[in-house]
Amino acid sequence: MLEGKKKGMTDREIIKGELKRRIFEDYSGDGEKDAIAQGTCAGLMWFIDSMPKTPKKRLRVLVACEESQTVCKAFRELGHEAYSCDIEDCSGGHPEWHLKQDVLPLLKIEWDLIIAHPPCTYMSKAGARWMYPKAGELSQERFRKSQEAKEFFLKFYNLDCKHVAIENPVPLKVVGLPKPTQKIQPYEFGEPYSKATLLWLKGLPNLVATNVLDNHVPWMPSNTGGFSRGQGGSRGIAHDQRTASKTFEGIAKAMAEQWSNYILEVEK
Ligand SMILES: C[S@@+](CC[C@H](N)C(=O)[O-])C[C@H]1O[C@@H](n2cnc3c(N)ncnc32)[C@H](O)[C@@H]1O
Repeated sequence: MLEGKKKGMTDREIIKGELKRRIFEDYSGDGEKDAIAQGTCAGLMWFIDSMPKTPKKRLRVLVACEESQTVCKAFRELGHEAYSCDIEDCSGGHPEWHLKQDVLPLLKIEWDLIIAHPPCTYMSKAGARWMYPKAGELSQERFRKSQEAKEFFLKFYNLDCKHVAIENPVPLKVVGLPKPTQKIQPYEFGEPYSKATLLWLKGLPNLVATNVLDNHVPWMPSNTGGFSRGQGGSRGIAHDQRTASKTFEGIAKAMAEQWSNYILEVEK
């Protein structure tokens, strides 16, 4: 059981593995017995998968600035009452869980957990060449926008909520964001891509890697423009802002499993 936990498996996955092992334990190579074991196993797996996923306590979770609903759906999958919020329509297929509005008024409501993905365009290191159009020269307009984005970010950072996570890419130093708690990569959560992602956590443990992949490619195109000038660099996968900022399912699943288990444990 502990081995399974280490690999980031859910309790359901561990139970399924254990059942399969026991059913096939005294498999004899006899064709008839084998067929019976296979049938029993398939039936049990179907039964376990169809059982409702009801946690001991349903957490009320707000996923702020999320149109993809990836994190919201990962919490719903575990039976929690999660809502995504974005000023844009959702693209995750569950408008009934989406609050299409400015998130700020929702921060006055009591939530068990708030996870925020505030806009990063003007703060991210990936935008260095626009912040510094010439070496050593700071774009005042860009800097002003970065400070507005920082003010919005700090609304989550200073929230009066016991459990808060903020996710953003690596920011430019000049923006002056607080020090992050943790740096993660999609390839540590079973996604074959690299994209340094920072987490600012309050009342939550660091995420534990669930499935580290050795082979991965950059998610973001190189911001130096070197590739297009034939100087090497990386072409990346994400070529529009929406794709670039989507949360990876592997990371969302780890957030939902690890953080909901933690909160249910400490709030017992
Ligand atoms: C960096 S993207 C995060 C996308 C997210 N990772 C996802 O998978 O959907 C920032 C999002 O914040 C949204 N946003 C910006 N200002 C907002 C506000 N005041 N209230 C709610 N959402 C806002 C944007 O529309 C955008 O979708």
